[in-house]
Amino acid sequence: MPTDDVEYEFGVPIPGRILPEDQWVRTAVKRLPDEGPLDFAAIFGRSAPLVLDLGCGNGRSTLLSALARPEVDHFAIDVLPVVIRYATRRGNQRGLSNVRFAVKDAQTFASRYVADGAAAEVHLYHPQPYHDHRQAGRRLVTPRFAADVHRILAPGGLFVVQTDNPDYWAYMTKLLPHFFKLEEHPEPWPDSPAGRSRREIIALQRGLRIFRGLARRRDEIDPASALELAQTLPQPTFRSRGPWCDLDRLEREGN
Ligand SMILES: C[S@@+](CC[C@H](N)C(=O)[O-])C[C@H]1O[C@@H](n2cnc3c(N)ncnc32)[C@H](O)[C@@H]1O
Repeated sequence: MPTDDVEYEFGVPIPGRILPEDQWVRTAVKRLPDEGPLDFAAIFGRSAPLVLDLGCGNGRSTLLSALARPEVDHFAIDVLPVVIRYATRRGNQRGLSNVRFAVKDAQTFASRYVADGAAAEVHLYHPQPYHDHRQAGRRLVTPRFAADVHRILAPGGLFVVQTDNPDYWAYMTKLLPHFFKLEEHPEPWPDSPAGRSRREIIALQRGLRIFRGLARRRDEIDPASALELAQTLPQPTFRSRGPWCDLDRLEREGN
């Protein structure tokens, strides 16, 4: 039974409830310093395991994890200010003191703003595949990005990645095992069978197959060797088969 303090998108409740205003917090980091790495203990006012959500969109996956794990801190970024505005409003209204959102591109964030081994988990849900191959250079998952994720993860750290694009997944399943032990997770996540993220929900509702991976950091590779290795691996120049244009239009409109 819908109530005023529960919000929905595509018929699926957004995690958490809107609290009375006196319990709201501020989850926006308005401006990142010019230089990293960030001092996450200072940002959150405590030392706690850190989860990063890169390209977080409207923040649904971050809210879900932060509500389920109050003992874990969550820092989520997206390059698009409008989606971060939606995410911060929801984080604020849910009183989530273990969440921060910032506008930043994930390549710069991963390479310059996170110290070696600072993150327990990195999550990446549905990075844009850029169907037009002339835009292939904008694809986020590259050898260098994989090496950066490897570097910022603590030993044993987890990279959670998913896409509804079979061509992107084919590339990832070749690339990621160089840096991580990759285990595919074809079933919906038990914590959110309707979808962890906005894009997962709409893709599931359209009957698209979702490719999910749990990638555990290969601790036998040191960061310098990971960077060297990255230089030898192919870039994501794959041809992406459509059509997922209606989903892409929805993404551009944000929520
Ligand atoms: C398809 S949406 C997925 C959003 C969300 N993770 C989800 O699953 O619903 C892709 C998101 O990545 C963001 N994005 C695209 N390129 C990015 C980049 N280089 N760095 C950070 N975010 C990026 C877009 O603004 C968009 O919000």
